[in-house]
Amino acid sequence: MIVGALGQKIARRIRAEGPLSVAAYMAMALHDPDDGYYARCHPIGTQGDFITAPEISQVFGELIGLWCALVWGELDRPDPVILAELGPGRGVLIGDLLRAAARIPDFRRALRLHLVEASAPLRAEQQHRLAQFEPIWVSRFEDLPDGPMLLVANEFLDALPVRQFVRRGADWAERLVALDGENRFVFVEGPPSPVARLLVPEASRDTAAQGAVVEICPAALALAAALGARFLHHPGAALFIDYGYLSSPPGPTLRALRRHRAVSELAAPGTADLSAHVDFTAFTEAARAGGAEVYGPVAQGRLLAALGAWERAAALRARATPSQQRTLDSGVERLLDPGGMGSQFKAIALISPGLPTPPGFDTGR
Ligand SMILES: C[S@@+](CC[C@H](N)C(=O)[O-])C[C@H]1O[C@@H](n2cnc3c(N)ncnc32)[C@H](O)[C@@H]1O
Repeated sequence: MIVGALGQKIARRIRAEGPLSVAAYMAMALHDPDDGYYARCHPIGTQGDFITAPEISQVFGELIGLWCALVWGELDRPDPVILAELGPGRGVLIGDLLRAAARIPDFRRALRLHLVEASAPLRAEQQHRLAQFEPIWVSRFEDLPDGPMLLVANEFLDALPVRQFVRRGADWAERLVALDGENRFVFVEGPPSPVARLLVPEASRDTAAQGAVVEICPAALALAAALGARFLHHPGAALFIDYGYLSSPPGPTLRALRRHRAVSELAAPGTADLSAHVDFTAFTEAARAGGAEVYGPVAQGRLLAALGAWERAAALRARATPSQQRTLDSGVERLLDPGGMGSQFKAIALISPGLPTPPGFDTGR
């Protein structure tokens, strides 16, 4: 049975055009302007579907602010400099970052805030939280103005649509979303083809087992290439933090989350968050081919510790009530936990060629 107005819309498209790529399904489920997940929902936080690092502790955004300030120094303190965030969510990270930046007045004065956000409800929330910083919104990375830039993005890449391919014989077949006889969305396979084979990363193309599934994220690769080319011509640096993998692809990683629980990706499109793990190797290759230097990935916990997470927590503790101290301690421990977020999440930095190693990236993985 098809659930909801968006389900009906996707079903009509499948009847008219045939099965959709997983990426086309994911893009509609997340961003349909009327009924997509990000058009309708308030997804982030304990009351939402998932929680993110900036929502766990202010220390996260503050330390990313410190990272930006240090890199700004390496860039020769450009003024003005674009401070861009991709997918700012509720605006918590950038709010904490800008509060921390106020301690370095020249840096704070130089920043021109730009937010790349597709979701209307989240833009409204950002407007509410960040109005004092006079942000400029754009819908796409390509719409950011030229010039020196510092860019940050936490859990943005995992929200970009992925395509999936299955190894069949010497070729690969694309996994698609279709309707079954009972009008339910189901995964099917297109015909194995040499064209699909060429879209699969070279490392897996001839070595993956029969039936193995590989994901590619064309939007993430295009973004990495565009940032690489930009940093060749305009000084800049970008810090991405996300979960993902480096070498052997883990199989299909597309997941749906509702109220912090995994649910079916296909049952009720638009009512659950969809995300997929980031292929850091492919992202690095695309950014390097574009012209940027790439550092990392390093574990989130190592980056935050190198930037002084414990020291910052101790300074905040000194002025906190016992209950605030407990919240602070548990938040920082969670962000740095080597058995949890501290290692599951990884940071990768793209920077203009010729700059020194960015802070926190000389610590190994
Ligand atoms: C998982 S949330 C992360 C939010 C925030 N960075 C945080 O850490 O709390 C993904 C964010 O990216 C935005 N987003 C997703 N896809 C986008 C796209 N293609 N273009 C612009 N924004 C997008 C969402 O609306 C949301 O703000």
